[in-house]
Amino acid sequence: MKIKVAPSILSADFSAMGEAIKRTEAAGADLIHCDVMDGSFVEPITFGGQMVKNIRPLTKLPLDCHLMIEHPKTQIKFFAEAGADIITVHYKACKKISDSYLEETLNLIKSYGVKCGVAINPDVDVEKVFDVFPLCDMVLIMSVYPGYGGQKFIPETLEKVKKAREFARFSGMDGLDIEIDGGVTEENAAAIKAAGANVLVAGSAFFRSPDPAKTVRILAE
Ligand code: DX5
Ligand code: ZN
Repeated sequence: MKIKVAPSILSADFSAMGEAIKRTEAAGADLIHCDVMDGSFVEPITFGGQMVKNIRPLTKLPLDCHLMIEHPKTQIKFFAEAGADIITVHYKACKKISDSYLEETLNLIKSYGVKCGVAINPDVDVEKVFDVFPLCDMVLIMSVYPGYGGQKFIPETLEKVKKAREFARFSGMDGLDIEIDGGVTEENAAAIKAAGANVLVAGSAFFRSPDPAKTVRILAE
């Protein structure tokens, strides 16, 4: 399965976002990971659909929008119309509203012709989202608690990556993207890929790298 590298613009300089996007594309990245935080589901506030709209014309790379927000359904329209290629919502944010909210949100994303994903925090069992795998293009396994870049990778989350990949294969979903997000480095990438993840988010590892193109190659090899 092709390994895709998704630098997270959370670690970029927000005052020079256009340049950051161009450098990311020039370095050979496969996706641009956009971390959307609302100050409620997670403590910080980052940006909303307007940022996605503004960076859309600057790159051909798919925009991978990771919504760390409450009530995600209310924002899908804005991100879809802004040009998001993938929109991922959190299991926990959906579950606290109702049992059917996650499925409804995934279907809403798909109704715009946009790919959809579900994200789980380190304290959520992956089995909880097995029932929505058939609706998803991507499953995002958080390897840190969401909210901040630059945290340390939680190695126990690799077990969930393995379970997710096994379940996807067993259920005939060989093409399902499994994304890992948080604390990915040049050093732990091999173990992450061996566990079955094929989309690697890299915030600090990419934006603090002295040679971002080399970092992308190492993460993707
Ligand atoms: C954390 C975000 C991540 C973060 C990754 O809440 O979802 O995407 O930016 O940053 P690093 O790679 O520095 O852990
Ligand atoms: Zn993210």
